[in-house]
Amino acid sequence: MSGVDDDGGTKPATAARIYDYHLGGTHNFPADRAAAEAMAQMFPLAPVLARTNRAFLRRAVGHLSGAGVRQFLDIGSGIPTEGNVHEIAQQIAPDARVVYADIDPVAVSESLEILYGNDRATAIRGDLREPQAILTHPRVRALLDLDQPVGLLLGAVLHFVPDDDLAYEVVGQLRAALAPGSYLVASHACADGGDVDPDDVQTAQGLYRRNTATPFHLRTRPQFERFFAGLDLVAPGVVWLPQWRPAPDDPADFADDPSRSSGLVAVGRKP
Ligand SMILES: C[S@@+](CC[C@H](N)C(=O)[O-])C[C@H]1O[C@@H](n2cnc3c(N)ncnc32)[C@H](O)[C@@H]1O
Repeated sequence: MSGVDDDGGTKPATAARIYDYHLGGTHNFPADRAAAEAMAQMFPLAPVLARTNRAFLRRAVGHLSGAGVRQFLDIGSGIPTEGNVHEIAQQIAPDARVVYADIDPVAVSESLEILYGNDRATAIRGDLREPQAILTHPRVRALLDLDQPVGLLLGAVLHFVPDDDLAYEVVGQLRAALAPGSYLVASHACADGGDVDPDDVQTAQGLYRRNTATPFHLRTRPQFERFFAGLDLVAPGVVWLPQWRPAPDDPADFADDPSRSSGLVAVGRKP
C-alpha cells in the first residue's frame, strides 16, 4: 500500500488498520503505524492483545462451524487477513457463506481484494449503529438466509459504540433479526479486572479520539453480560479472552493472569 491517497494526501489512521498493524499485517498506512506505535509505547501488550483477540474469534468460528452454522455476519470485521472467518468456516464446510461489514471504506476495499474469486464471501461498508441498513443490504440478502441460523460476530467492535443505550439497542435489533439457533459471538475491552492503569486507558482513549473517527469506551462485566441476556451461553460462559476454549497453538502471553488481557468474551445461542 502506498500510504497516500490517489490525490497525494495522507490517509488518517483508522482502528481497522491500527489493528492490522498490530496483527503484523500489511494493510496499513503511515498514520496508522504512527498511532499503533504510540499505543504500543503505552501498552506494550497491544499487539499481543490483537493476536489473542483474533485467536478467540478463530476458535469461536470453529466451534460454530462444528455446531453446523453455515452463515456468518461479521460486523466490525477489520481486514480479513490469513486465518480469518471465511477461511476457518469454509475449511470446515466449503459451502459456508460470510459477509464482512466494516465502517472503514479502506478495510472494505482491502477485504474485497482478498475475497476476489470467492463467491461465498463478500464485504460491505456498514455501520454497526445502523443495523437495519446492514440487515437489508442487497449483498447480505443475496448471500445470507436470515431464516436459517447465522453466526453474528462482534469482535472487538462494541467498545467503539460508546453510547450504552445505542449499543444495547443495535445488538437487540440484530439478535431479533436472526433465526433461532443463531449465535452471538462478542469480545469487548473491559474496565474491571487486570492491572491496567486507568491513566493509561484515558491516554489510549485520547489517542483514538484524536487520530481516528472511532473513539472507544470500556464496559464492565455486568454491562458486557447484558448483551447476552436471554441467550444460552456456550460453556465456559463469560470469560477473559484466552480462557474461552483455549487451543494449543494460541498466544500464551496471558497464561499467568488471563484478566490482564482486559478483554471479555462470550458466545451465546438464540433459543
Ligand atoms: C479492533 S478491530 C476488530 C476486528 C475483528 N472484528 C477482530 O475481532 O479481529 C475493530 C473494527 O471495528 C470497526 N468499527 C469501529 N466502529 C464501527 C462501527 N460503528 N461499525 C462498523 N465497524 C466499526 C473498525 O473499523 C475496525 O475494523
